[in-house]
Amino acid sequence: MRKFYSSAMAVGTAALLALSMSACGSERDGDGDDAGSGKGFKKDALIGVALPSKTSENWVLAGGLFESGLKDAGFKFDVQYANASSPVADQQAQITAMTTKGAKVIVIGATDAAQLSTQVEAAKKSGAVVIAYDRLITGTKDLDYYVAFDNFKVGQLQGQALIDGMKAKKATGPWTVELFSGSPDDNNSGVFFNGAMDVLKPLIDKGDIVVGSGQKDIQQTATQGWKAENAQTRMDSLLTSTYNTGGKTLDGVLSPNDTLARAIIQSVKSAGKPIPVVTGQDSEVESVKSIMAGEQYSTINKDTRKLVAETINMVKALQGGNEPTVNDTKSYDNKAKVVPSFLLPPVIVTKANAAQAYADDPKLAPLTK
Ligand code: BGC
Repeated sequence: MRKFYSSAMAVGTAALLALSMSACGSERDGDGDDAGSGKGFKKDALIGVALPSKTSENWVLAGGLFESGLKDAGFKFDVQYANASSPVADQQAQITAMTTKGAKVIVIGATDAAQLSTQVEAAKKSGAVVIAYDRLITGTKDLDYYVAFDNFKVGQLQGQALIDGMKAKKATGPWTVELFSGSPDDNNSGVFFNGAMDVLKPLIDKGDIVVGSGQKDIQQTATQGWKAENAQTRMDSLLTSTYNTGGKTLDGVLSPNDTLARAIIQSVKSAGKPIPVVTGQDSEVESVKSIMAGEQYSTINKDTRKLVAETINMVKALQGGNEPTVNDTKSYDNKAKVVPSFLLPPVIVTKANAAQAYADDPKLAPLTK
């Protein structure tokens, strides 16, 4: 059985200590040619970016932002997505190709956390620096850095939003909920779920929150491939098995992201039932619209522009022969090492703060007017 809980021991909110590790090696020049040795590399070196398939809008945005950001910084770039039909093999081949072409840094948004160690090792051996982007890569000591939003915090915010939303509709419990988690091959799925359970479990233990179906384990709540249709099918069957007879009302659904939240809402609507409080993540256009329309309750703003910019900052530091800045050196144990990480703070968004949260986002701000 796959282990879901293991890799990221994000401790509480893992206070974002701004612990800069940048000082060492700053006077080395940037014209050397051996990445990974601390000597920097050429300013127009090739940077590889291997992204998973487009299971949510953030991945679509990231590709374009990497291309423009790396171009503006003067690098050559190779940005690839894993195709949806054979994502693991495809991504493995893409990373190998980037290594062969002599990429100096390879940024990876993993399709399957546990299936890339061979490719990461080969990349490292060739002299490339490997950065895990958004999703951790497990089981290899050759992963150099991790850059992501604080995933445990994302889960905590989702759990708290679920409680707040249900309280706003019905001041006291018990509240009946269902729990969904992401794809088991994505390391983030367990971290999000653990973060949410950190907040929800005390109330479940007290009986204030009841999981109607009794399905509380991550194995039972998982959504393979982060696919909307899988969440919708599970929600359909939960409604049939648990909410059709006996007069149980579903008060809330923990959904790990927006794509799944909309599938869950769709399922509830098709069954002709009232929409419960549903959480989300990613600030996808359709979900922001749904929040403003009073359907989906919450999402999380993880501004992809910032995450890509931080990653490119790391690449620039490496190019100059400097140690990239990290702010967390304890939370992400990938089972082979604790990976130095740069974690950004996620922001919870509901209808109440949407206008403020997206004020500087030209795509989302108009939706909140
Ligand atoms: C990302 C989420 C995204 C999910 C599905 C996760 O690893 O952190 O933002 O919703 O993948 O694409």
